[in-house]
Amino acid sequence: MENIVTKGLQGTIVIPGDKSISHRSVMFGAIAEGQTMIHGFLPGDDCLSTISCFQKLGVDIQMIDDHTVLVNGRGLQGLKEPTDLLDVGNSGTTIRLLMGILANTPFHSSLIGDESIAKRPMKRVTNPLRQMNVHIDGRDEGNFTPLVIRGGKTSGIDYQSPVASAQVKSAILLAGLQANGTTTVTEPAKSRDHTERMLQAFGVNVQVDGLKVSIDGGQALQGTRIEVPGDISSAAFFLVAGAIVPQSRIVLKKVGMNPTRTGILDVLHQMGAELTFTNKHEDEAEPFADIEVNTSSLKGIEIGGDLIPRLIDEIPIIALAATQAEGVTVIKDAAELKVKETNRIDTVVNELRKMGADIEATNDGMIIKGKTPLHGNTVSSHGDHRIGMMVAIASCIAEGQTVIEQKEAVAVSYPQFFNHLHQLQV
Ligand code: S3P
Repeated sequence: MENIVTKGLQGTIVIPGDKSISHRSVMFGAIAEGQTMIHGFLPGDDCLSTISCFQKLGVDIQMIDDHTVLVNGRGLQGLKEPTDLLDVGNSGTTIRLLMGILANTPFHSSLIGDESIAKRPMKRVTNPLRQMNVHIDGRDEGNFTPLVIRGGKTSGIDYQSPVASAQVKSAILLAGLQANGTTTVTEPAKSRDHTERMLQAFGVNVQVDGLKVSIDGGQALQGTRIEVPGDISSAAFFLVAGAIVPQSRIVLKKVGMNPTRTGILDVLHQMGAELTFTNKHEDEAEPFADIEVNTSSLKGIEIGGDLIPRLIDEIPIIALAATQAEGVTVIKDAAELKVKETNRIDTVVNELRKMGADIEATNDGMIIKGKTPLHGNTVSSHGDHRIGMMVAIASCIAEGQTVIEQKEAVAVSYPQFFNHLHQLQV
């Protein structure tokens, strides 16, 4: 049960490690030569699924403490044929990037995940990998789990991706690491570039030219030290909470500021949120800063186009912000929401409606009219971490009690979420 917050949210939170970067640090460490030490690792369920899959592939990975991981890399040729199923749990990043890595392994692997993963389309990765000569089979001609892969000698491709997806781009680039010739991926809009940045930190030459990324085959990775900044997608919940809960002031420490991820900041700024940035570290492989947010008067805006990939995971919490903004907010060009952990157009609209929001679904997004007072109700995460956190923040401004079903889903990306929320309630 959650109650309306009467005295505002106040305090400082150290934002947990970035999920996308944590996954990649384990994966790239596993296929590198030598050791990789990861600091600021996110021990969320998804990243633990990545660790478990690579352990089954014969990689020695040790949790030194909750946020420090040591990976004893085996090199791309050193992975072993797994004797067990590789279970990715709820994690789309794990399965799609793993498919790219397994493209180089001359053995059989079977990949499964949870109920949500079983509904998420894998053809977007299966198709280009097949063009690179990788053998993949699976339900519905390789579109859904369970999937089986036998990798081997791959050929480079020049691939025009139909979607702006970092998971697709990364899978193809990882397959390209050992391919004959050059592998190029061109996207319709720029997706997050953590793979490009981190491969360079592991000593790989990656060429980036606008929307086009290329990699030459035959390159080895060298183990390194990785510093993972806080996840801006996790910070987003408290950025919006600070803006919409009356009498709030929240400071979020060490938030990742990679420009391919900061669409939420552009949107909050345009909506009128008061944000202040300090302790900026701009010269790191992955830049970060502290962000202070104060209660703000918000106004509705239109969100679409190339901005969408820069904030795709933040749309549930942006929708909540829009219910508290004066005027209409239109979110468009976001049909990708339908193939996330849940169909996030439906889950956002249905759960916010239960709390009194004026929100309607469209084919590629949603339209929200504000400002609307919210009321408590029984709502559900539907097993989707970002829906669980969004309704929890909604409960802070809702009149009466809110019951959140399946709230444990937040552990996928933010295990300490409810502790942090309670810490801020003065
Ligand atoms: C991710 C890419 C995005 C994002 C997901 C993490 C990644 O997915 O939604 O949470 O780490 O590469 P898509 O590649 O499907 O857009």
